[in-house]
Amino acid sequence: MRNLIGWLNPQNASVERIDLKKKRFEPAHPVYYKGPGGRPIRLLLHARANLLAIWRKKHYETGIGVMWIFRRQVVVVNAPEAIKYVVATRHENFERKSPQMRRALEHLIGDGLFISDGDTWKQRRPLVSDIVHKNRVPVFGGIMTGTTEELVERWNRLGDGASVNMLHEMAGLTAEIIARSVFGNDLGADGANEVTEGFTSYQSLVDSVNLGYFLGLDEGMPLLRTPSMKHAIKRIHRVIDKVVEDHLAGHGDNRSMLDLLIRRQKRNPELKLDVVALRNEAATIFMAGHETTAATLTWIWYLLSRAHWVETAVHEEIANVCGDRVPSVDDVPALEWCRAVVEEALRLYPPVPILARQAKTADRIGTHDVKAASLILIVPWLLHRTEELFPDAHSFRPERFMNGKRPLPYSYIPFASGPRLCPGLQFGLTEAILCLAVIAQKFRVRVQEGHKVEAVFQLTLRPKGGMPVTLHRR
Ligand code: HEM
Repeated sequence: MRNLIGWLNPQNASVERIDLKKKRFEPAHPVYYKGPGGRPIRLLLHARANLLAIWRKKHYETGIGVMWIFRRQVVVVNAPEAIKYVVATRHENFERKSPQMRRALEHLIGDGLFISDGDTWKQRRPLVSDIVHKNRVPVFGGIMTGTTEELVERWNRLGDGASVNMLHEMAGLTAEIIARSVFGNDLGADGANEVTEGFTSYQSLVDSVNLGYFLGLDEGMPLLRTPSMKHAIKRIHRVIDKVVEDHLAGHGDNRSMLDLLIRRQKRNPELKLDVVALRNEAATIFMAGHETTAATLTWIWYLLSRAHWVETAVHEEIANVCGDRVPSVDDVPALEWCRAVVEEALRLYPPVPILARQAKTADRIGTHDVKAASLILIVPWLLHRTEELFPDAHSFRPERFMNGKRPLPYSYIPFASGPRLCPGLQFGLTEAILCLAVIAQKFRVRVQEGHKVEAVFQLTLRPKGGMPVTLHRR
């Protein structure tokens, strides 16, 4: 291949390939793990550094793998039928999040929906689903485009060719969108900043492996609350509590998600949503709804920056559908390329690359016996890159999602599946499509020369060191 640029860096072992002639782009991903196996401690240390880099070639095939890490049975489920069994058929037995996930987030979001199960989850799920439901997405569409236009204006002031870190920019954008949607205009720029910084710092302090669980503690080990962690939690809780109290006192923005939740509580006092419960759900939606979309958008700018042929198609589509006016929520159904780019980015870089569950009781997945309290891993990162399900799986081809083509059921699960399906699916998709369209109409984004893109797992799947880019006015 004459136009092939490829590299392999043995230090961080990530690979990226582009063939301009064939218009084939294989964006950055860790190479298959080839190191020695056998020692659980080695695997855990490796997993701690980057959970995406521990997988061998065989793991990128459909099947079910069972292993033991110290005293814990770990079952990796990578076949659509078996995934259906875990997330839908036997949801009741596998609804519980892993102790790692619960312990990592409990100080921050308490019994918030993301990590709750049993009766709490059953009671709260319809409430949260309702307030972020797809019928309400058009209401939030104005916030999405308005906030993105503000960003475009700010970038215009920076001048042509300005350098920014795209991960940081997208995190700021989606935090502002979700903050305005959840809290109305009451949080203010300073409050939103305080909460976002609090989350970022909390995230950097959380370990991705709970050793106690692997050593035999079914509930895992509680996270040590260091002074910096306490500080991060306090920053977030202080700001959110103030807004919740204002809303409870009737001084809140009545179009916000929080206000809807409070009105529900007033109508149905048996729900017992006190200040802490309201804070937990508001913080959950904020957390679940901003990181994920920010990571998706950041990957999109990287993909378009390299695959110029796709970028051109996106630009032409926006011009055809919107002309010179700013894209709006009504344009979304016509933006087929934009949607396909978003869906393909979510396939290659699912922001939640691992769905981890804890079996409540012993069970049988396929032909494999599963013990009570085992760790069940469904890994969208692997599933989405399984050749049998997605031919030429590592390459960026938005066309997979065009002209009515859809992946097989349970083979494409960036938003999970079954009763725990992400309630923000429509919100997140619409937001990503609109942010992409509003920005791409005005700017071309280029990853900075010489920057090596690497995918790492840190609660979400994100580019290591962010994404340094330059912005070019169109
Ligand atoms: C591209 C954007 C998004 C992606 C890829 C995404 C993905 C996911 C995934 C995979 C889960 C399930 C996690 C698991 O089972 O371990 C989830 C749960 C959740 N997401 Fe999203 N999400 C996105 C955007 C949003 C938005 C915008 C909101 C809110 C407005 C949201 C709210 C939630 C909530 C509350 C849960 C917990 C649901 C439950 O456990 O019942 N998400 N999301």
